[in-house]
Parts: sequence; C-alpha cells; structure tokens
Amino acid sequence: MLRELRFVNREPELDKMMRWAREGRYTPVFLYGPEGCGKTRLLKEFYQRLSQHEDYIIVYIDALEEKIPEKALLGSEKVLDVAKSIVEQIGGPVGKALADSVEALLEELYKRIKFKDKHVILLIDDVASPLGLDYIELYAKRLLSLSEELIWRMKARSALLIATTSEGKSARLIARHTYANLYFMWNLPKEHFMELAKQLGAPDEAIMERAWSLTGGNPRALLEIASLRWNFDEWMRHIEHRMRRALFELREHKESIRAALEDPDVLVEDREAFNKMLDLNLIMDFYAEPLGVKPRPNPEMGIGREIAWQIPVYVHVMRRVIE
Ligand SMILES: Nc1ncnc2c1ncn2[C@@H]1O[C@H](COP(=O)(O)OP(=O)(O)OP(=O)(O)O)[C@@H](O)[C@H]1O
Ligand SMILES: [Mg+2]
Repeated sequence: MLRELRFVNREPELDKMMRWAREGRYTPVFLYGPEGCGKTRLLKEFYQRLSQHEDYIIVYIDALEEKIPEKALLGSEKVLDVAKSIVEQIGGPVGKALADSVEALLEELYKRIKFKDKHVILLIDDVASPLGLDYIELYAKRLLSLSEELIWRMKARSALLIATTSEGKSARLIARHTYANLYFMWNLPKEHFMELAKQLGAPDEAIMERAWSLTGGNPRALLEIASLRWNFDEWMRHIEHRMRRALFELREHKESIRAALEDPDVLVEDREAFNKMLDLNLIMDFYAEPLGVKPRPNPEMGIGREIAWQIPVYVHVMRRVIE
C-alpha cells in the first residue's frame, strides 16, 4: 500500500496565498494546472496552515465529493453544522450541493459568527465538472458578488475566494471575463519531486531520473509509477491507450500534433487543434498569471514558452503512436 506523502515545497505558491489571506482580494481567483499537479493538496495545506488561527474563518469544499460530508467540507464545527443542514435541504451529491450554495452557507454562518475582524477564506476545489462547464462563467460571477457581500455587507476584515479546475476549457471560459483572475500552477520542481520519489522508496537514482524526465514533476504520475512497482512499461501502456483514443479524436489535426511534439508553441497557429487538445487535457497554456514558478521552456519535456504538454510522457508516447 502507498503511504500518504509528506507535503513538499510549494513555498512560492503558499507565500502568495498567505499574503492574499492577510490582505484579502476583491476579485476571486481561479486556479488551473495539469491534472494531478497538486492543486487539491495545495489547498488542503493552505487550509491546515490557517484553520487553527483565530483571525481566520476558512472553509474548504471539495465539489467533486459525492457522498461523505466530512470529505466534501473542511471547516470549524460551526461550519460543519451549517453545511449539514444545507446538504439535507438540497440533497444530491454533497460536494456539488455545497459548491452550489456557497452564498447560503456563508449567510448562515454570518448569523452565527461575527465576520468583523475576521479574514474570510473560501476554497472550492474542482468546480468545473460537477457544476458543468456551461455554468462556470456564471459561477465566477456569483463568487465575485459573494466577495462584495463579504466585504461590504458582512464587514469581513478581508475576503479571499479561490476555486480550482483542471479542465483546460474552463480556464478558457473564465479568461473571457473580469469576474475572476486566472492563475496557473505547474508540476513540482525537480528537487522537490525527487524528495517525493525518495519518500515512495524509489530503488535508485537512475529510476528517479527516469521518473523525472517522463513525468516532468507530476506527483500523481509519480504515485502511479510507484504503485506499479516502478514498472515504467506498464505505466506507459496505460498512457498509450489514452493517446490512441486522443489521436482518434484529433485525427484531422495530425500535422499540428506532429509539429507540437517538437515545439508545443506551434499550436498558437492552430486554434482548433489547440482547443481540442486543451479540452482533452493533453496540453495547457500559460496565458495567465503564475501562482508559483512558471517552468522554463524545455523542448525535451514538451514545455514551450506559451504552451506545454501536461506531462512529458505524452510527447514520448504520442510520437510512437502517431508514427
Ligand atoms: N506538494 C506535495 N507534496 C506531497 N504530495 C503531493 C504534493 N502535491 C501533490 N501531492 C500528492 O499527489 C497526488 C495528486 O495531487 P492532487 O490530487 O492534489 O492533484 P490535483 O492537481 O488536485 O489533481 P486533479 O487535477 O485531478 O484535481 C495526491 O496524492 C497528493 O497528495
Ligand atoms: Mg484536485
């Protein structure tokens, strides 16, 4: 069995978030990044750092959690009480119900706790899929109104609202508006990725290097490889099935894909291929503010200046599949 990993790094991201927590932000933040890069873990670490602090009211909602209220919500006892009654009233998947009633949740909480002198922080993880992509723009606008309510009517000392998504398409929809600021985060830097590989008992340096060059620092991919007892071939077979399916979806765009294997930035010139590949979560773009560190262009790892393959293994496997 795999152990839960000790948290590593993310100091640049956490520094920025802690500053936002102290100072507040009028505009909600939408955070996106490669699947499995550590968005959820980052939000939970942030929650942990502030949950015991009396100046802060911090609530974490996992919008994807369907059944277990304790998983769908992290917060003080009062928060949990309020949330339970809301979930009972609404029914359906718990995470979705909570994400979709954040206004009611805070309103009820406001009746019980004075927000004056408190920094109020709301973290909503994985909003795009349960609420539906069509709804994401409206949701961003709702969060902006909530931010105004918190500051002006409820007189919170400050407010901070952060939502995450790993759907490239949702980032694209959010970016069209001024309701939210879009930020991206990237996979782990090498030093900290290696720390995780050690925690997972990687057998030797060569294996750690191979994991780094194929995952580009993606912690979920590393966990998957470790769970397969460092059998890279088996892991790449799974990836190969995914790439074959993706290629089928993208069959009209083979030439652009071929070119993007050498330099992902060429996709800037082919909007259709770019959007489809974004929607398939093969690539992501850096058309947003970096929350932590923006990766340096690295053709071997499929990282361009503006666009990158989410993990380098996609480049290796896609090259094989496309030939
Ligand atoms: N900084 C970190 N330190 C230790 N473990 C981490 C770190 N970041 C991520 N992990 C672990 O890697 C795995 C994937 O991370 P996580 O679920 O946070 O990714 P995600 O970006 O939220 O993925 P998704 O896009 O699917 O929502 C988890 O098991 C998580 O605990
Ligand atoms: Mg997540």
